[in-house]
Amino acid sequence: MPLNRSEPFYVTTPIYYINDEPHIGHFYCTTAADLLARYHRLIGDDVLFCTGTDENSQKTVQAAKERNMDVNKFTDMMAENWKSTWKKLNISFDIFIRTTSKEHRQSVEKILLKCHEKGDIYKKEYEGLYCVGCEKFLTDSEIKDGKCPVHKAKLEKVKEENYFFKLSKYEKPLLELFATEGFALPKPRHNEMVEFIKQGLKDISISRAKTDWGIPMPIDDTHVIYVWFDALINYITGLGYYKDDKNMEKYWPYSLNLVGKDIFRFHSIMWPAMLLSAGVPPPKQVFGHGFFTINGEKISKTLKNVIDPVKLAEKYSADAIRYFILKEIPFGKDSDFSIKRLGERYKDDLSHDLGNLVNRSLNMVEKYSKGAVPAFNENIHKGDKLHSDIQANGEALVEAIDKFITKFEFSQMLDRIWEYVRSINKYIDTTKPWVLDKAGKNEELDVVLYNILHSLKLIALYIYSVMPETAEIIYKQLGIKENIKGCKYIKESKWGSLKKGTKIKREGVLFPPIEEEGEKKMEEKQEEKKEEKKEEKKETSEIAFEDFKKVDLQVGEILEAEKVEGADKLLKVEISLGEEKRTLVAGIAEHYSAEDIKGKKIVVATNIKPRTIYGVESQGMLLCAHTKDGELIMLTLDKDAASGSKIS
Ligand code: MSP
Repeated sequence: MPLNRSEPFYVTTPIYYINDEPHIGHFYCTTAADLLARYHRLIGDDVLFCTGTDENSQKTVQAAKERNMDVNKFTDMMAENWKSTWKKLNISFDIFIRTTSKEHRQSVEKILLKCHEKGDIYKKEYEGLYCVGCEKFLTDSEIKDGKCPVHKAKLEKVKEENYFFKLSKYEKPLLELFATEGFALPKPRHNEMVEFIKQGLKDISISRAKTDWGIPMPIDDTHVIYVWFDALINYITGLGYYKDDKNMEKYWPYSLNLVGKDIFRFHSIMWPAMLLSAGVPPPKQVFGHGFFTINGEKISKTLKNVIDPVKLAEKYSADAIRYFILKEIPFGKDSDFSIKRLGERYKDDLSHDLGNLVNRSLNMVEKYSKGAVPAFNENIHKGDKLHSDIQANGEALVEAIDKFITKFEFSQMLDRIWEYVRSINKYIDTTKPWVLDKAGKNEELDVVLYNILHSLKLIALYIYSVMPETAEIIYKQLGIKENIKGCKYIKESKWGSLKKGTKIKREGVLFPPIEEEGEKKMEEKQEEKKEEKKEEKKETSEIAFEDFKKVDLQVGEILEAEKVEGADKLLKVEISLGEEKRTLVAGIAEHYSAEDIKGKKIVVATNIKPRTIYGVESQGMLLCAHTKDGELIMLTLDKDAASGSKIS
């Protein structure tokens, strides 16, 4: 498939029940949809991404009652809650449907009347066992020990006259639809559904009497429409079906309904049958992904094993958990969720492989190329695989990623991108830019640095759909003025597109190490002990002159300063040591404001091992005097001296 296809693309998530807060399972499907939406926008497609809340369920009424709240107020509050959660997690939805909205109600009424006109709706007496958790009648084979096996809850006995939809009439058209290549994926779930249809479809109840929460049946207002019949229609409400909007014609033929495996049957059988009855084409594609479990059990509030993605994001960042869930489960398969694994992936893949690569690369550019992108001279190393592979493998990823995306192979896609990330780290270890610098091999050094920087640019482009914030930060640090969002992807991924002379902009480190609670306490204790020992030694210790000479003191000029987020005492200080720029973290925020110190010339110990404090790497220390009153005074200079001057 050509990459610059410029087609419409419409992707949807299920709409979520609002009796509950979003959990990691909901986040999973939404993140996958977001990845697809962002990727398609990047390659120039015309994208609409729709999500929303399923509010006409009995669970909504129950949850509002439990909180002693008016149902309408409760739904407004919860819908806002879901929306803001998605925003915090970098979900770039275009449309948010609430099923209690006027527009949605109009869509539902329109479809129902069309099905009725077609003669597909009739009334009959019905008796069955209903699970409010699943919002469906369970069959005898689905019931375990008189309970719903998923929600472990008692079932409600319902006997009433209901309206039914003639699902049985659509067996043949559905089998034909399933024969369309790519309609229902992945293949095992497709096959399961085909078997299910072949065993014969039963008509389904689509109304409930004796309840007043929901959309009234337009043909009989003593009934409300069954919540699934109502909810599925949200996908076309999003395209303005209720008002015959042109978006229906434009986007619906390119639609993808992404759902979990538990609701795949509703989406691949009931939903297309409803549409066929109403004279609307079925969705182009329905994909049923796998489930995260906790200790093998489904995540649910009833089972009290819910993981809040926002809390996880506060600790690890939204991008990190987006990466983790897409990496951890091959899409379509099931997997157990483990916080320990998240910690490992964060440390190994993100902090070590990616964060460290960006950090060391930018360090070298500052050191060996005056902080700017060097010239790219193709002739040096021409034909040498060590160098040419970096370019070839980087460019080849464009096609590879497109294939992974069309096959929903997100985990495999990330594996491939990380192979490339690791190969760049290896390239640095092999080419040793610091040796090239010492040996004065400047042209070679430039080529190596250029290759490294360009590979970072490609990595940023390739990870954007999964980790949009991180990708934009890398772009910014490379000094690229344009954002990735909205860039010309194919053009930008061509080797040589990184301009010579672009000034890089270092800003902190990506994915700083996260201290676990236990470790933090241990470290604090160790620090206290060290401090005590230092105090004891203070009066008596002497060092040799040779040892003192080892400390490299230089004059630094403060260029910028700002508070370190979350730390009252710390300032992040950008300094110039002549040709080199450094970042320091200094415990002076209670004594100086950021504005006070700009432009001051200070004394800096430059060869102290870098330390990461509150996520910021401190590359040296500025010297201060401690007054008796406990004040800290920075050592400044009596007369002016150039930044970078040695102090002896
Ligand atoms: N409201 C219905 C969907 C109507 S769509 C027209 C519903 N809502 S839900 O909130 O219960 O679930 C929404 C989605 O979250 C489903 O696709 C479900 O599969 C998914 N998940 C819920 N728990 C999950 C996991 N533990 N793992 C992966 N996905 C999970 O069903």
